[in-house]
Amino acid sequence: MANLNEDKFSTKLKRKLNAFFLAPIRLRLGHGELGKYLSKSRKVTGFLTEKESVFLANSVIQMHSNLTVVEVGSFLGQSSIVFAGALKVKGSGKLHCIDPFDGSGDSFSMPFYQRISKRKKITLREWFDRNVSSASVDEWIEVHQGTAETVGVSWRDSIDILFLDGDQSPQGARKAYETFLPYLKVGSLIILHNSIEREYDEMHDGHYRLVAESIKSPDYGCIYVADSTTFARKLI
Ligand SMILES: C[S@@+](CC[C@H](N)C(=O)[O-])C[C@H]1O[C@@H](n2cnc3c(N)ncnc32)[C@H](O)[C@@H]1O
Repeated sequence: MANLNEDKFSTKLKRKLNAFFLAPIRLRLGHGELGKYLSKSRKVTGFLTEKESVFLANSVIQMHSNLTVVEVGSFLGQSSIVFAGALKVKGSGKLHCIDPFDGSGDSFSMPFYQRISKRKKITLREWFDRNVSSASVDEWIEVHQGTAETVGVSWRDSIDILFLDGDQSPQGARKAYETFLPYLKVGSLIILHNSIEREYDEMHDGHYRLVAESIKSPDYGCIYVADSTTFARKLI
């Protein structure tokens, strides 16, 4: 039993050491100007892998200038720092962060959000603001506090990159997709977290279903995957 506890402790320690020390150094040294933001993002509690973060940042870098990027589901800003940092490196564009910042969402994810939110005596919104401000990317971000559905009601801008990482229930994911689909430009990029084929809780497979049902030819092409995230170009 003692050995089992020691093993658990050392695995946890190794994970923390990687997340807060090794990964930030590796990212800072290995990715030029982007490295600073990739590194800062790793210090924020979130759900992206290192590889996913690098792919998100490069998706911004590889597109034209003055991008409108929409992120549905920002939580504490891990992905927001990656996107906004990449826009800052490019020197143009805006990241729109849509999140209710109240720990709500699909029934599988909510307990995780609620547990993390109890770690600090500030609101999730205050925590997000602090994170993006300490990464010096706040000027590249416009926050829309609300759900995809409520914010979508008054949405008018064409979108170059849409990142879906909010409510991941089948209904929630489809609703967010359908809300912003009319604004996705031809040639734009849609990015869906947790969307590869694998086992999911039935209330957390919304992005996987969306990709299987809708993100395919002839509407989408150039589809590729980084860890659990799918990237696709809108063709028509
Ligand atoms: C998986 S987390 C986002 C993680 C974030 N992208 C990151 O990299 O750390 C999902 C977030 O979406 C929020 N959310 C839940 N339902 C939503 C909805 N309908 N519209 C927008 N955001 C939603 C949750 O409260 C949570 O903050």
